[in-house]
Amino acid sequence: MSDDAIPAVLPLRNDLVGETPYGAPQLDVPVCLNVNENPYAPSDAVADSIARRVRDIATMLNRYPDREHIELRKAFARYLAGESGVSLPFEQLWGANGSNEIMLQLFQAFGGPGRTALGCDPTYSMYPEYARDTFTTWRVVHRRDDFTLDVNATVDAIIRTRPSLVVITSPNNPTGTPLPMDQLAILLDACRKAGVEGAAEGTHPVLVVDEAYIEFRDPGTPSALTMLAGHENLAVSRTMSKAFAFAGARVGYLAASRGIIDAVRIVRMPYHLSALTQAAALAALEHTDELLAQVDHLRRTRGETAHWLATRRYHGRPLRVAESQSNFLLFGGGFEDRERIFDELLKRGVLIRVVGPEGWLRVCMGTDEEMSRFRAALDEVLAIV
Ligand SMILES: Cc1ncc(COP(=O)(O)O)c(C=O)c1O
Repeated sequence: MSDDAIPAVLPLRNDLVGETPYGAPQLDVPVCLNVNENPYAPSDAVADSIARRVRDIATMLNRYPDREHIELRKAFARYLAGESGVSLPFEQLWGANGSNEIMLQLFQAFGGPGRTALGCDPTYSMYPEYARDTFTTWRVVHRRDDFTLDVNATVDAIIRTRPSLVVITSPNNPTGTPLPMDQLAILLDACRKAGVEGAAEGTHPVLVVDEAYIEFRDPGTPSALTMLAGHENLAVSRTMSKAFAFAGARVGYLAASRGIIDAVRIVRMPYHLSALTQAAALAALEHTDELLAQVDHLRRTRGETAHWLATRRYHGRPLRVAESQSNFLLFGGGFEDRERIFDELLKRGVLIRVVGPEGWLRVCMGTDEEMSRFRAALDEVLAIV
């Protein structure tokens, strides 16, 4: 029995017996490149704005916060209009404690016993957990060898499985693969035609595009937000955790039809978004340009690192690097013992992530200094494994 096993006297839900909490190791090492954070901390100016906003509402903490967080939803709308050129009324936006909570709310509203959610593997490892926690069946269609979607197989699965939710990550985690708009259009069309097992006649699957990393895409590439008009069953999940350098504040948001937002409002906890979180997010959104200032640089780091990785050799063969539009790279493709490479990097103070298909490892883009430490450590490790 492991130390954190749940004592047998506790009537834990049967399907949770033997389960462990999800999460990457939180280790105190010099170079943390494992959870896809932005390595650049908010500036003093941002911190001062947050402190001011929080001070202003601190004397009102005896009252519950605005349950509908309307000021924040309006601020998300302004941000998206600038970032993606899509104007939405605040009724089409919704915030929560990280996009993890957004996704859970979507599963709570549209999943459930007798329902299926469909994703495209390899993908973000939390989706099966949202499914488990909402008694939703989780099914996957495998991506192609280059990690792009197998569109025909996905369409077939939508028609055959009749899922209530289809979850596509763009750019995908852990591969970085974007979802081209023509493929999204095909999937939306399939959802428009498909029915939903366990739901009323005439209903169709909700297609969720998880755009947690979308700000790192190449400039000029459209977001799924551009497809919202006319697609009542499309939901786009976003977060301030990644490009926005705000992971610690736990702010995610959803852009979707009013119907989807209203469905999510049914399942949310009362006052789920604290006044402190709302104040901090509003302050951060006042500094959008500054918080996103490093995105260009991280994009360049991604390009340079991908190029560098492709010049390294493992057992005589060049490393493979998955095409990424995100702030991380999946690399290797043929590591015989990836745990050993992970451990050897960790011994050298560099924490990356063992995730994705066997033989691959994922590294997140850090500061220039962190990346040069990663490169030096990986060269040492490749020489001994
Ligand atoms: C694809 C994807 N979606 C959602 C999240 C959750 O992010 P957050 O809850 O911090 O918004 C992550 C975090 O790593 C992710 O990789």
